[in-house]
Amino acid sequence: MQTVDQLDPLRRAVEGLRADGPVALVPTMGALHEGHLTLVREAKARAAHVVASIFVNPRQFGVGEDLDAYPRPRERDLELLGREGVSLVWAPTVEAMYPAGYATNVSVSGVSEELCGAARPGHFDGVATVVCKLFNQVRPDLAFFGEKDWQQLAVIRRMARDLDLIAPYADAIHGVATVREADGLAMSSRNGYLTSQERAQAAALPRAMRAAIAALEAGADPAPTLAVIEAELLGGGFAAIDYVALRDPESLALRTTLAQGDARLFVAARIGRARLIDNMPVGRA
Ligand code: PAJ
Repeated sequence: MQTVDQLDPLRRAVEGLRADGPVALVPTMGALHEGHLTLVREAKARAAHVVASIFVNPRQFGVGEDLDAYPRPRERDLELLGREGVSLVWAPTVEAMYPAGYATNVSVSGVSEELCGAARPGHFDGVATVVCKLFNQVRPDLAFFGEKDWQQLAVIRRMARDLDLIAPYADAIHGVATVREADGLAMSSRNGYLTSQERAQAAALPRAMRAAIAALEAGADPAPTLAVIEAELLGGGFAAIDYVALRDPESLALRTTLAQGDARLFVAARIGRARLIDNMPVGRA
């Protein structure tokens, strides 16, 4: 496994790989866990070579967020990627990604505006900008993202379609189901911020979501059912709720009933030093 941190060697290395067949890209910010490794495995099953990127992207962190605290266990990450059979790791320096004078922003309207977009202004511009650059740098045939960050996936699909980034877009961008801990908590590099007491309390998030989904699928009214999730989290150790929302899975438009078909439940909430997000399907009973 080769690791490069500058664009010219990256381009040369990818050209070499492409001779063997399709190249898949798995973008990450490192601090890898089974969620990331599942993306790598799915990528490996569908491509001749997997390129993984590790880049803690400053542009997607807001003022006062955890850019400096974000874990960067580089040696361990490289070892894990090597074990999964990744061919190439693209780990650019901040200067290689954003050279002096860098001035371009990619902004996706609509899908990036609500939910995490409202709670973290500028976040999805940062994500769209770096993923656009990663696509242009690596020029993959396929790319893999987690459904854990469902809105991020929607933003990236929209961007790829709008900017003709990788084609055919519908097949090229793969969403991978959320990988969870034994108690249901979605794996996240940020779970490591939790104390052991907070970690135990955090399991209330997927538990409250599953209970609400069972109620919704049995015909309960969305508004009071979503209010129960908020009350359970706030009563169970969470400090604040960013949102609890029922949305259309594709457009992310607000849903007030399940009458229009399947929906998706989205929650973002803060506990200790962590902001946790999760989403689950509703209506596929
Ligand atoms: P990061 O949080 O490192 O996540 C990298 C990829 O792993 C994303 O596609 C994310 O959705 C996926 N992922 C994280 N936890 C997961 C889980 N529990 N199950 C399944 N997939 C999971 O998301 C980012 O980095 C960045 O925003 C990035 C896309 C790399 C752009 O900087």
